[in-house]
Amino acid sequence: MWADGDHRRVPGDKEPQQHSRPGHRGARTMLPLLLLLLPAARGTVVTVGPEPALTKDPQLEGVTTASTFVLDQPRCVFQNYSDAVIWLVVTNDKDAFYNNATPGTPETAFQNFPDKVSAYMTLNVTLPSYPCPRPAGDITVLRVGSETSCAKDMSRPTCNGPLPGPGPYWVKFLALNDSGPVAETSWSMPIMLRTAQPASNISTGSGYRDGMIAITTILSILFAILLAALLAMLVFCGSESCGSSTFSKAESVSVRRYNTHHVYDQPCARL
Ligand SMILES: *[C@@H]1O[C@H](CO)[C@@H](O)[C@H](O)[C@H]1NC(C)=O
Ligand SMILES: *[C@@H]1O[C@H](CO)[C@@H](O)[C@H](O)[C@H]1NC(C)=O
Ligand SMILES: *[C@@H]1O[C@H](CO)[C@@H](O)[C@H](O)[C@H]1NC(C)=O
Ligand SMILES: *[C@@H]1O[C@H](CO)[C@@H](O)[C@H](O)[C@H]1NC(C)=O
Repeated sequence: MWADGDHRRVPGDKEPQQHSRPGHRGARTMLPLLLLLLPAARGTVVTVGPEPALTKDPQLEGVTTASTFVLDQPRCVFQNYSDAVIWLVVTNDKDAFYNNATPGTPETAFQNFPDKVSAYMTLNVTLPSYPCPRPAGDITVLRVGSETSCAKDMSRPTCNGPLPGPGPYWVKFLALNDSGPVAETSWSMPIMLRTAQPASNISTGSGYRDGMIAITTILSILFAILLAALLAMLVFCGSESCGSSTFSKAESVSVRRYNTHHVYDQPCARL
Protein backbone atom coordinates (compact mmCIF):
# COMPACT_ATOMS: atom_id res chain seq x y z
CA MET A 1 0.00 0.00 0.00
CA TRP A 2 2.66 2.51 1.08
CA ALA A 3 5.03 1.61 -1.72
CA ASP A 4 2.18 2.10 -4.13
CA GLY A 5 1.40 5.49 -2.68
CA ASP A 6 5.03 6.53 -2.93
CA HIS A 7 5.15 5.55 -6.55
CA ARG A 8 2.09 7.59 -7.34
CA ARG A 9 3.52 10.62 -5.62
CA VAL A 10 6.81 10.32 -7.48
CA PRO A 11 5.81 11.95 -10.79
CA GLY A 12 5.07 15.16 -8.80
CA ASP A 13 8.19 17.34 -9.26
CA LYS A 14 11.92 16.70 -8.68
CA GLU A 15 11.66 13.17 -7.51
CA PRO A 16 10.80 11.61 -10.87
CA GLN A 17 14.23 12.55 -12.25
CA GLN A 18 15.95 10.89 -9.32
CA HIS A 19 13.77 7.86 -9.76
CA SER A 20 14.00 7.63 -13.50
CA ARG A 21 17.79 7.56 -13.51
CA PRO A 22 18.21 4.22 -11.75
CA GLY A 23 15.30 2.88 -13.80
CA HIS A 24 17.03 4.00 -16.95
CA ARG A 25 20.30 2.45 -15.89
CA GLY A 26 18.44 -0.74 -15.08
CA ALA A 27 16.84 -0.82 -18.49
CA ARG A 28 20.22 -0.24 -20.12
CA THR A 29 21.74 -3.22 -18.40
CA MET A 30 18.62 -5.35 -18.92
CA LEU A 31 18.24 -4.65 -22.63
CA PRO A 32 21.44 -6.37 -23.87
CA LEU A 33 20.67 -9.25 -21.56
CA LEU A 34 17.20 -9.60 -23.06
CA LEU A 35 18.56 -9.25 -26.58
CA LEU A 36 21.03 -12.02 -25.80
CA LEU A 37 18.44 -14.28 -24.22
CA LEU A 38 15.53 -13.88 -26.64
CA PRO A 39 17.13 -15.19 -29.84
CA ALA A 40 18.74 -17.99 -27.88
CA ALA A 41 15.41 -18.99 -26.37
CA ARG A 42 13.62 -18.69 -29.70
CA GLY A 43 16.35 -20.27 -31.79
CA THR A 44 15.98 -23.63 -30.11
CA VAL A 45 12.24 -23.92 -30.88
CA VAL A 46 11.51 -24.67 -34.52
CA THR A 47 8.07 -23.78 -35.90
CA VAL A 48 6.68 -26.70 -37.87
CA GLY A 49 3.60 -27.89 -39.71
CA PRO A 50 0.20 -26.38 -40.09
CA GLU A 51 -1.33 -24.74 -37.03
CA PRO A 52 -3.96 -26.76 -35.18
CA ALA A 53 -7.47 -26.38 -36.54
CA LEU A 54 -10.98 -27.57 -35.82
CA THR A 55 -11.66 -30.83 -37.64
CA LYS A 56 -13.40 -30.35 -41.00
CA ASP A 57 -12.72 -33.78 -42.53
CA PRO A 58 -14.39 -36.08 -41.66
CA GLN A 59 -17.45 -33.95 -40.98
CA LEU A 60 -18.39 -34.61 -37.38
CA GLU A 61 -21.36 -33.77 -35.20
CA GLY A 62 -20.40 -31.43 -32.39
CA VAL A 63 -16.99 -30.23 -33.55
CA THR A 64 -17.62 -27.62 -30.89
CA THR A 65 -19.90 -28.10 -27.90
CA ALA A 66 -20.42 -25.94 -24.82
CA SER A 67 -17.23 -27.31 -23.22
CA THR A 68 -15.26 -29.25 -25.86
CA PHE A 69 -13.87 -28.93 -29.36
CA VAL A 70 -12.34 -31.36 -31.82
CA LEU A 71 -8.92 -30.80 -33.40
CA ASP A 72 -7.01 -32.62 -36.10
CA GLN A 73 -4.10 -34.60 -34.67
CA PRO A 74 -0.65 -33.27 -35.59
CA ARG A 75 0.19 -36.08 -38.00
CA CYS A 76 3.45 -35.89 -39.96
CA VAL A 77 4.32 -32.62 -38.22
CA PHE A 78 6.89 -33.53 -35.54
CA GLN A 79 8.63 -36.39 -37.40
CA ASN A 80 12.05 -34.81 -36.88
CA TYR A 81 11.66 -34.78 -33.08
CA SER A 82 11.19 -38.45 -32.31
CA ASP A 83 12.45 -38.19 -28.74
CA ALA A 84 10.06 -35.38 -27.81
CA VAL A 85 6.71 -35.45 -26.03
CA ILE A 86 4.03 -33.46 -27.84
CA TRP A 87 1.79 -31.33 -25.67
CA LEU A 88 -1.28 -29.29 -26.46
CA VAL A 89 -1.27 -25.76 -25.04
CA VAL A 90 -4.69 -24.19 -24.51
CA THR A 91 -4.86 -20.50 -23.65
CA ASN A 92 -7.21 -17.56 -23.53
CA ASP A 93 -4.29 -15.13 -24.02
CA LYS A 94 -1.74 -16.39 -26.52
CA ASP A 95 0.66 -13.50 -25.87
CA ALA A 96 1.01 -14.49 -22.20
CA PHE A 97 2.34 -18.02 -22.84
CA TYR A 98 6.06 -18.74 -22.94
CA ASN A 99 7.49 -21.97 -24.29
CA ASN A 100 9.64 -22.50 -21.21
CA ALA A 101 6.48 -23.29 -19.21
CA THR A 102 6.71 -26.68 -17.53
CA PRO A 103 3.80 -29.11 -17.91
CA GLY A 104 2.48 -30.88 -14.87
CA THR A 105 3.05 -27.90 -12.55
CA PRO A 106 0.52 -25.56 -10.92
CA GLU A 107 1.62 -22.87 -13.42
CA THR A 108 0.24 -24.92 -16.32
CA ALA A 109 -2.46 -26.86 -14.46
CA PHE A 110 -5.90 -27.26 -15.96
CA GLN A 111 -7.47 -26.75 -12.53
CA ASN A 112 -5.96 -23.25 -12.27
CA PHE A 113 -7.30 -22.16 -15.66
CA PRO A 114 -8.47 -19.49 -16.29
CA ASP A 115 -8.50 -17.83 -12.84
CA LYS A 116 -4.83 -18.22 -11.83
CA VAL A 117 -3.14 -19.12 -15.11
CA SER A 118 -3.96 -18.10 -18.67
CA ALA A 119 -2.82 -21.35 -20.26
CA TYR A 120 -2.70 -25.05 -19.47
CA MET A 121 -0.88 -27.98 -21.03
CA THR A 122 -2.57 -31.30 -21.71
CA LEU A 123 -2.92 -34.28 -24.06
CA ASN A 124 0.76 -35.24 -23.89
CA VAL A 125 1.69 -38.02 -26.28
CA THR A 126 4.87 -39.43 -27.72
CA LEU A 127 5.40 -39.43 -31.46
CA PRO A 128 4.43 -43.11 -32.04
CA SER A 129 0.86 -42.11 -31.06
CA TYR A 130 0.69 -39.97 -34.18
CA PRO A 131 1.91 -42.43 -36.85
CA CYS A 132 2.74 -40.94 -40.23
CA PRO A 133 1.34 -41.61 -42.76
CA ARG A 134 -1.84 -42.42 -40.88
CA PRO A 135 -3.00 -46.02 -41.20
CA ALA A 136 -6.39 -46.36 -42.91
CA GLY A 137 -9.29 -46.25 -40.45
CA ASP A 138 -7.24 -44.55 -37.75
CA ILE A 139 -8.96 -41.95 -35.60
CA THR A 140 -7.08 -38.74 -36.34
CA VAL A 141 -8.85 -36.25 -34.13
CA LEU A 142 -8.50 -35.07 -30.54
CA ARG A 143 -11.40 -33.92 -28.41
CA VAL A 144 -10.18 -31.14 -26.14
CA GLY A 145 -12.19 -30.98 -22.90
CA SER A 146 -13.38 -34.60 -22.85
CA GLU A 147 -12.13 -35.66 -19.38
CA THR A 148 -14.58 -34.73 -16.66
CA SER A 149 -13.28 -37.08 -13.95
CA CYS A 150 -10.07 -35.12 -13.24
CA ALA A 151 -11.46 -31.61 -13.72
CA LYS A 152 -11.17 -30.77 -10.00
CA ASP A 153 -8.33 -33.18 -9.12
CA MET A 154 -5.28 -31.02 -8.35
CA SER A 155 -3.10 -34.15 -8.45
CA ARG A 156 -3.75 -34.37 -12.20
CA PRO A 157 -2.65 -30.98 -13.57
CA THR A 158 -2.45 -32.28 -17.14
CA CYS A 159 -6.16 -33.15 -17.11
CA ASN A 160 -7.97 -32.66 -20.44
CA GLY A 161 -10.92 -31.19 -18.57
CA PRO A 162 -14.04 -29.45 -19.90
CA LEU A 163 -13.44 -25.89 -21.05
CA PRO A 164 -14.81 -23.35 -18.60
CA GLY A 165 -16.53 -20.92 -20.97
CA PRO A 166 -17.32 -19.96 -24.56
CA GLY A 167 -13.81 -18.69 -25.29
CA PRO A 168 -12.16 -17.56 -27.46
CA TYR A 169 -9.35 -20.09 -27.01
CA TRP A 170 -6.09 -20.50 -28.90
CA VAL A 171 -4.22 -23.79 -29.08
CA LYS A 172 -0.84 -24.97 -30.32
CA PHE A 173 1.21 -28.14 -30.16
CA LEU A 174 4.53 -27.91 -28.39
CA ALA A 175 7.20 -30.63 -28.50
CA LEU A 176 9.42 -30.91 -25.41
CA ASN A 177 12.41 -33.17 -24.94
CA ASP A 178 14.44 -33.60 -21.80
CA SER A 179 16.30 -30.35 -22.40
CA GLY A 180 13.18 -28.26 -23.06
CA PRO A 181 11.03 -27.07 -25.97
CA VAL A 182 12.32 -28.15 -29.38
CA ALA A 183 9.46 -27.54 -31.83
CA GLU A 184 6.04 -25.97 -31.96
CA THR A 185 3.22 -25.20 -34.33
CA SER A 186 1.79 -21.70 -34.73
CA TRP A 187 -1.26 -20.75 -32.73
CA SER A 188 -4.64 -21.79 -34.07
CA MET A 189 -7.31 -19.34 -35.10
CA PRO A 190 -9.44 -18.24 -32.11
CA ILE A 191 -11.87 -21.02 -31.22
CA MET A 192 -15.34 -20.12 -29.91
CA LEU A 193 -17.53 -22.69 -28.23
CA ARG A 194 -21.31 -22.95 -28.30
CA THR A 195 -23.14 -21.00 -25.65
CA ALA A 196 -25.71 -23.04 -23.78
CA GLN A 197 -29.12 -21.47 -24.30
CA PRO A 198 -31.40 -20.90 -21.31
CA ALA A 199 -34.14 -23.52 -21.09
CA SER A 200 -36.87 -20.96 -21.73
CA ASN A 201 -35.31 -19.91 -25.03
CA ILE A 202 -34.94 -23.50 -26.17
CA SER A 203 -38.54 -24.36 -25.36
CA THR A 204 -39.94 -21.25 -27.05
CA GLY A 205 -37.65 -21.89 -29.96
CA SER A 206 -38.77 -25.48 -30.47
CA GLY A 207 -42.40 -24.57 -29.69
CA TYR A 208 -42.29 -21.97 -32.43
CA ARG A 209 -40.71 -24.48 -34.78
CA ASP A 210 -43.33 -27.14 -33.91
CA GLY A 211 -46.09 -24.59 -34.51
CA MET A 212 -44.64 -23.70 -37.88
CA ILE A 213 -44.44 -27.37 -38.85
CA ALA A 214 -48.06 -27.97 -37.79
CA ILE A 215 -49.32 -24.94 -39.72
CA THR A 216 -47.36 -25.93 -42.79
CA THR A 217 -48.73 -29.46 -42.62
CA ILE A 218 -52.33 -28.30 -42.22
CA LEU A 219 -51.97 -25.81 -45.05
CA SER A 220 -50.53 -28.40 -47.40
CA ILE A 221 -53.34 -30.87 -46.54
CA LEU A 222 -55.95 -28.20 -47.15
CA PHE A 223 -54.30 -27.30 -50.42
CA ALA A 224 -54.27 -30.96 -51.48
CA ILE A 225 -58.00 -31.29 -50.67
CA LEU A 226 -58.75 -28.13 -52.61
CA LEU A 227 -56.74 -29.37 -55.57
CA ALA A 228 -58.51 -32.75 -55.47
CA ALA A 229 -61.91 -31.06 -55.37
CA LEU A 230 -60.98 -28.85 -58.31
CA LEU A 231 -59.74 -31.86 -60.30
CA ALA A 232 -62.88 -33.84 -59.49
CA MET A 233 -65.02 -30.95 -60.64
CA LEU A 234 -63.08 -30.60 -63.88
CA VAL A 235 -63.33 -34.35 -64.61
CA PHE A 236 -67.05 -34.39 -63.74
CA CYS A 237 -67.85 -31.43 -65.93
CA GLY A 238 -65.65 -32.67 -68.79
CA SER A 239 -67.30 -36.11 -69.09
CA GLU A 240 -70.94 -35.25 -68.36
CA SER A 241 -72.79 -32.36 -69.90
CA CYS A 242 -72.47 -30.25 -66.87
CA GLY A 243 -75.02 -27.64 -65.93
CA SER A 244 -72.69 -24.82 -66.60
CA SER A 245 -72.06 -25.73 -70.28
CA THR A 246 -75.75 -25.77 -71.22
CA PHE A 247 -76.18 -22.76 -69.08
CA SER A 248 -73.50 -20.89 -70.99
CA LYS A 249 -75.11 -21.93 -74.30
CA ALA A 250 -78.45 -20.67 -73.17
CA GLU A 251 -76.82 -17.56 -71.89
CA SER A 252 -75.00 -16.92 -75.14
CA VAL A 253 -78.22 -17.49 -77.06
CA SER A 254 -80.10 -15.13 -74.88
CA VAL A 255 -77.25 -12.64 -75.06
CA ARG A 256 -77.21 -12.96 -78.82
CA ARG A 257 -80.91 -12.44 -78.91
CA TYR A 258 -80.64 -9.48 -76.67
CA ASN A 259 -77.77 -8.13 -78.76
CA THR A 260 -79.68 -8.49 -81.96
CA HIS A 261 -82.57 -6.81 -80.32
CA HIS A 262 -80.26 -4.13 -79.07
CA VAL A 263 -78.52 -3.77 -82.43
CA TYR A 264 -81.88 -3.43 -84.12
CA ASP A 265 -82.96 -0.99 -81.51
CA GLN A 266 -80.03 1.34 -81.86
CA PRO A 267 -80.34 2.11 -85.56
CA CYS A 268 -83.99 2.82 -84.81
CA ALA A 269 -82.98 5.25 -82.17
CA ARG A 270 -80.51 6.89 -84.50
CA LEU A 271 -82.97 7.05 -87.38
C1 LIG B 1 12.88 -32.73 -41.10
O1 LIG B 1 14.19 -32.23 -41.31
C2 LIG B 1 14.60 -32.24 -42.67
C3 LIG B 1 16.06 -31.80 -42.72
O2 LIG B 1 16.31 -30.71 -41.90
C4 LIG B 1 13.70 -31.30 -43.46
O3 LIG B 1 14.05 -31.29 -44.83
C5 LIG B 1 12.25 -31.76 -43.32
O4 LIG B 1 11.39 -30.88 -43.95
C6 LIG B 1 11.88 -31.89 -41.86
N1 LIG B 1 10.56 -32.51 -41.75
C7 LIG B 1 9.59 -32.00 -41.03
C8 LIG B 1 8.31 -32.74 -41.03
O5 LIG B 1 9.74 -30.97 -40.37
C1 LIG C 1 1.67 -37.30 -19.66
O1 LIG C 1 2.05 -36.58 -18.53
C2 LIG C 1 1.66 -37.20 -17.30
C3 LIG C 1 2.06 -36.25 -16.20
O2 LIG C 1 3.29 -35.64 -16.45
C4 LIG C 1 2.34 -38.55 -17.18
O3 LIG C 1 1.91 -39.17 -16.00
C5 LIG C 1 1.96 -39.39 -18.37
O4 LIG C 1 2.66 -40.62 -18.33
C6 LIG C 1 2.29 -38.68 -19.66
N1 LIG C 1 1.80 -39.46 -20.77
C7 LIG C 1 2.50 -39.60 -21.89
C8 LIG C 1 1.88 -40.44 -22.96
O5 LIG C 1 3.58 -39.10 -22.05
C1 LIG D 1 16.47 -32.10 -27.46
O1 LIG D 1 16.33 -31.70 -28.83
C2 LIG D 1 17.38 -30.86 -29.28
C3 LIG D 1 17.00 -30.40 -30.69
O2 LIG D 1 16.49 -31.45 -31.46
C4 LIG D 1 18.69 -31.63 -29.24
O3 LIG D 1 19.74 -30.79 -29.66
C5 LIG D 1 18.93 -32.08 -27.79
O4 LIG D 1 20.08 -32.92 -27.76
C6 LIG D 1 17.76 -32.88 -27.29
N1 LIG D 1 17.94 -33.18 -25.88
C7 LIG D 1 17.73 -34.37 -25.37
C8 LIG D 1 18.01 -34.52 -23.92
O5 LIG D 1 17.37 -35.34 -26.05
C1 LIG E 1 -33.36 -15.60 -24.69
O1 LIG E 1 -34.54 -14.93 -25.06
C2 LIG E 1 -34.58 -13.57 -24.65
C3 LIG E 1 -35.94 -13.00 -25.03
O2 LIG E 1 -36.35 -13.47 -26.29
C4 LIG E 1 -33.43 -12.81 -25.31
O3 LIG E 1 -33.42 -11.47 -24.89
C5 LIG E 1 -32.13 -13.45 -24.94
O4 LIG E 1 -31.04 -12.83 -25.63
C6 LIG E 1 -32.15 -14.93 -25.30
N1 LIG E 1 -30.92 -15.55 -24.85
C7 LIG E 1 -30.18 -16.29 -25.66
C8 LIG E 1 -28.96 -16.88 -25.02
O5 LIG E 1 -30.45 -16.49 -26.83
